[in-house]
Amino acid sequence: MSETQSTYNYRVVRQFAVMTVIWGIVGMLVGVIIAAQLVWPELNLGFLHFGRLRPLHTNAVIFAFGGCALFATSYYVVQRTCHTRLFSDGLAAFTFWGWQLIIVLAAVTLPLGITSGKEYAELEWPIDILITLVWVAYAVVFFGTLAKRKVSHIYVANWFYGGFILAVALLHVVNSAASPVTLFKSYSAYAGVQDAMIQWWYGHNAVGFFLTAGFLGMMYYFVPKQAERPIYSYRLSVVHFWALIFTYMWAGPHHLHFTALPDWTQSVGMVFSLILLAPSWGGMINGVMTLSGAWHKLRDDPILKFLITSLSFYGMSTFEGPMMSIKTVNALSHYTDWTVGHVHSGALGWVAMVSIGAIYYLLPRLFGKSEMFSVRLITVHFWVATIGVVLYIASMWIAGVMQGLMWRAVNADGTLTYSFVESVKASYPFWAIRFLGGVLFLFGMLVMAYNMFKTMAGGRTVDDARVLVPAAHHA
Ligand code: HEM
Ligand code: HEM
Repeated sequence: MSETQSTYNYRVVRQFAVMTVIWGIVGMLVGVIIAAQLVWPELNLGFLHFGRLRPLHTNAVIFAFGGCALFATSYYVVQRTCHTRLFSDGLAAFTFWGWQLIIVLAAVTLPLGITSGKEYAELEWPIDILITLVWVAYAVVFFGTLAKRKVSHIYVANWFYGGFILAVALLHVVNSAASPVTLFKSYSAYAGVQDAMIQWWYGHNAVGFFLTAGFLGMMYYFVPKQAERPIYSYRLSVVHFWALIFTYMWAGPHHLHFTALPDWTQSVGMVFSLILLAPSWGGMINGVMTLSGAWHKLRDDPILKFLITSLSFYGMSTFEGPMMSIKTVNALSHYTDWTVGHVHSGALGWVAMVSIGAIYYLLPRLFGKSEMFSVRLITVHFWVATIGVVLYIASMWIAGVMQGLMWRAVNADGTLTYSFVESVKASYPFWAIRFLGGVLFLFGMLVMAYNMFKTMAGGRTVDDARVLVPAAHHA
């Protein structure tokens, strides 16, 4: 078998991997602060009140923490599976510094109240343009690397990363179309119910592509690697890919049940959401079953624990989502903390945990070490994080169902049984439990940062990895 030598750009992977942990701490700290503000309203200090900090939290965790994890892993995976260096080091560096600049601009503008008011797309038009530039550079680097691959096959993880990059480009450009009035203010190009529909076509696909497809790419590479087993079914992974990306696009209207959106559109959204259960679970099963014959590894490998637990939460939230899309269920769940619980079973349980597992896999390799400074601390992180997520989502489920039932309770004479304030009062204990869950999850991230800096301190930065690649090898 002939062998070729290849060098990989690990520098940009390392930069994004380290920033994933740092932005994770920042974003979750803001999450803990807003959770505290709900329990102790006096913490709403000056302009740093709940209304300003909430979008800062969502942007920081989704785009800074999640985004850096996606950049780091996609750049690593595309090089390793294509057996070639990134298409352009310069453009890759531009995506890193550009993305960090966008995050800083978001952190400054959102607390100042500079916002377009569209959820998960709050940033004003100059920042939106910068996002577009960085994203185009990202697409060039990623697809350019695929184009110059040394193997004929394109591993399925790259299909998911590629789908995520293309879909997010489309969503961002269409949903952010706006007429600028000043440097800090613009108005959406759409009006009324069309604006709402475009926004939730974007919003739901931000979940489907930013918070799911890219992380599935992560799952398809890091679960088999860490388990040292091939993916359970390659055929299923291809069916999974096409079914998932086709179905997600139509499910957005489930965010607009009982609104001015035409009724049939809402029903289409509901039906596609129910169908979405199948590809979601197909993917989850494919990931979990990769462990068949290797279940014992779960016992003492905390990285695998993170990866497999994340898949369990993925399965749970993609069962819950279709249920919540049923109009009669949504009539109860909408506006309540049930939605917030659903969000975080996906966000903390799935997105954060799969990212944490993947970053733990990467860090030693990026710093020339055989493993993390302390494997025991990874286990500690795993348990505090898991207990944290469970406290968060269980308290929100109870609070959510309670709120929904209190709001719809009526007396025999048709008057409401409870005032809104009574439902707020009844929610306090659950908000306190959610705060505790958040503190635990954040504490786990701090343990991770400590472990990371210790690993860095005893290691050396690996900028260019020189790897011997068997010419006939395929992954
Ligand atoms: C089959 C998959 C899924 C379906 C069908 C689904 C469905 C739903 C439904 C019906 C809602 C409530 C809409 C409302 O009443 O306003 C919702 C909210 C949400 N879901 Fe999911 N979900 C799925 C998976 C996920 C996953 C995996 C995540 C996170 C990683 C997630 C993140 C969110 C977010 C962020 C919201 C809140 C949006 C907002 O109002 O701001 N979902 N989802
Ligand atoms: C320490 C961890 C975290 C804490 C304590 C936390 C806390 C919170 C709180 C208090 C809210 C506002 C809920 C409300 O409006 O009533 C919120 C919203 C949200 N968080 Fe987090 N969060 C954490 C981690 C994350 C992560 C890692 C993600 C995503 C990857 C995330 C995504 C979101 C989203 C999308 C919303 C908006 C939900 C909606 O509109 O329904 N959070 N979070």
